[in-house]
Amino acid sequence: MSKFITFEGVDGAGKSTHLAWFAEALRQRGLDVVVTREPGGTPLGEQLREILLHQPMSIGTETLLMFAARLEHVEQVIKPALGAGKWVISDRFSDASFAYQGGGRGMDWDKLRQLEQWVHPDLQPDLTLFFDVPVEVARKRLRMSDRAGTNNTSLDRFEQEQSDFFERVRAGYHKRVQQNPHRYVVIDAAQSLETVKDKLQEVISAI
Ligand SMILES: Nc1ncnc2c1ncn2[C@@H]1O[C@H](COP(=O)(O)OP(=O)(O)OP(=O)(O)O)[C@@H](O)[C@H]1O
Ligand SMILES: [Mg+2]
Repeated sequence: MSKFITFEGVDGAGKSTHLAWFAEALRQRGLDVVVTREPGGTPLGEQLREILLHQPMSIGTETLLMFAARLEHVEQVIKPALGAGKWVISDRFSDASFAYQGGGRGMDWDKLRQLEQWVHPDLQPDLTLFFDVPVEVARKRLRMSDRAGTNNTSLDRFEQEQSDFFERVRAGYHKRVQQNPHRYVVIDAAQSLETVKDKLQEVISAI
């Protein structure tokens, strides 16, 4: 039976690092796995991603573009793949809008709920792996990775935000987890790469 699994957490938590390994581990068990990401996941969605990550805009516009890209993603990629019996693993999904636009930028939580209801009324992830990490640990990882360049010139509009923004994003994620705890596995992403991988191995065995 197909499953829809999402990876969530602040920038630098380790989602992308572990997602590649996780998908490969599922494939080795004979599953047909589609790996995708948000914002993005479709040709139009990837164009919207470029705009979202680099163009200044109002919070309302940012929220609507996120959900516009998501609608394409749900209709063009996620639902067809699930319908064909595939497993879909997405690097971020709607929880990220609640965390970043809701928690981080203060967009009204009920408006986000309305958009979620509009864009995917009958779809939620079967499982969400929330990579939870203190903001300072995540910031340090990003600084140490090549991504930051020498003077942060290659950081996107979100990565350029300050620690207080990411504290609010993290709190937004925690609020989402509290509202729907059964959907999440909370991973202590401050642990070493090996320890996180062991935890993911447990998750794979369980599903
Ligand atoms: N558990 C860990 N211990 C040490 N370093 C880690 C760990 N997890 C990830 N990293 C390192 O932290 C950096 C950021 O990881 P990664 O790109 O996977 O984060 P991300 O959650 O995908 O971030 P973004 O949301 O910005 O894409 C990478 O250089 C990665 O190697
Ligand atoms: Mg990533």
